[in-house]
Amino acid sequence: MIRVRIKVEPHAYEAVIRHGLLGAAGEQIAEVLPAAKHRRAFVITVASVKRRWGAKLVKSLSAAGFRPALIEMPEGERHKRLATIETLAGKLIAAGADRDSIVIAFGGGVAGDVTGMLASIFMRGIEFVQIPTTLLAQVDASIGGKTGVNLRGGKNLLGTFQQPRIVLIDPAVLATLPEREFRAGLFESLKAGVIGKPQLFEKFEQLSPKQLRSDAELLEWVIAESVRLKADIVARDEREDGLRRVLNFGHTIGHALEADTNYRHFLHGEAVAWGMVAAAKIAKQVGCAEKHVVARIEQAVLRFGPLPVVKSDGKNILKLIQGDKKTRNGVVHFVLPKKIGRVNIVNDVPAQVILRAVREIGQIKSNSCLPQ
Ligand SMILES: NC(=O)c1ccc[n+]([C@@H]2O[C@H](COP(=O)([O-])OP(=O)(O)OC[C@H]3O[C@@H](n4cnc5c(N)ncnc54)[C@H](O)[C@@H]3O)[C@@H](O)[C@H]2O)c1
Ligand SMILES: [Zn+2]
Repeated sequence: MIRVRIKVEPHAYEAVIRHGLLGAAGEQIAEVLPAAKHRRAFVITVASVKRRWGAKLVKSLSAAGFRPALIEMPEGERHKRLATIETLAGKLIAAGADRDSIVIAFGGGVAGDVTGMLASIFMRGIEFVQIPTTLLAQVDASIGGKTGVNLRGGKNLLGTFQQPRIVLIDPAVLATLPEREFRAGLFESLKAGVIGKPQLFEKFEQLSPKQLRSDAELLEWVIAESVRLKADIVARDEREDGLRRVLNFGHTIGHALEADTNYRHFLHGEAVAWGMVAAAKIAKQVGCAEKHVVARIEQAVLRFGPLPVVKSDGKNILKLIQGDKKTRNGVVHFVLPKKIGRVNIVNDVPAQVILRAVREIGQIKSNSCLPQ
């Protein structure tokens, strides 16, 4: 069992990582949120997770003294919106939730972001636990306390900070995750490698997604390293005033690609994958990347298998970037790789350079693209 401490205000918490942990979820939660006080535990989940893993979690919660109930929300990024939160809050009320109830996010990043935001505003805030079930949520989204929903105008434009009390990561639940979703999650982990875990990046240069998926110990290590990187950064900058921005590596263009295709063409991790390649190309053009870095990043991304083709027009992407909430006072911040394990924030990337990078990723077609 690996425990990673996330040292934030108002309380530090732990991410616990272990194959088979789901069966012990109830007792782990009861250690930080005693069942005698927090009897009602509402598990917010999606159909595919509920069907395969719901009974196991409910059994474990009951055994630890909680009175659990499963509440389903619709799947997919399209449902990461305020209306979903209102519906869920109505269901909580109907089921008798009160201020001492716990909500448990049991799904991917979408369920985590929605449930976290729900917990932060339901009766002005109730306790919240994360049990991420996608690789992306295990290596990234479940850590750090950012919650949010999308608006038509862009991703995550409404949101709050709400730290969970504990994060329970069981890589065994990834067995039912579709292969494409698994690969999408690997990209967020690759991101962690570029930002500050060179050994993680080097592992990814040697191993295939298939090898990673079939080796439980290796997978635990990959998840733990990614969580450690995020925990470190979040502890030093919880509210994204400075350092935390490095976690947006690949996300400036990635988010714009997602918005430009109405969140339907790319999985989040896939858009970030293209965003990392684009950022590497920008770094080369503005001269901040050391030799070989750009090629290594591009190769590592493409090794993880096919991605949907980029068809977006550079001008649209530019417009979306300027409307992104990462843009402050009209200045676009780009996180650019210097070397593997080190990124810089650059504020003055010329529009022409961005346009060129978007054009270049649009030209990478080869056999690395998913059939359309
Ligand atoms: N809060 C943060 O810090 C943060 C960080 C990164 C990403 N995010 C957000 O996370 C979201 C993406 O998360 P995601 O990639 O997990 O997508 P997702 O939540 O949509 O999950 C992907 C799909 O996998 C299914 N699924 C989940 N677990 C499964 C399992 N074990 N077996 C079978 N199917 C399963 C889901 O139902 C869904 O259809 C984005 O909205 C992104 O903005 C948030
Ligand atoms: Zn992301």
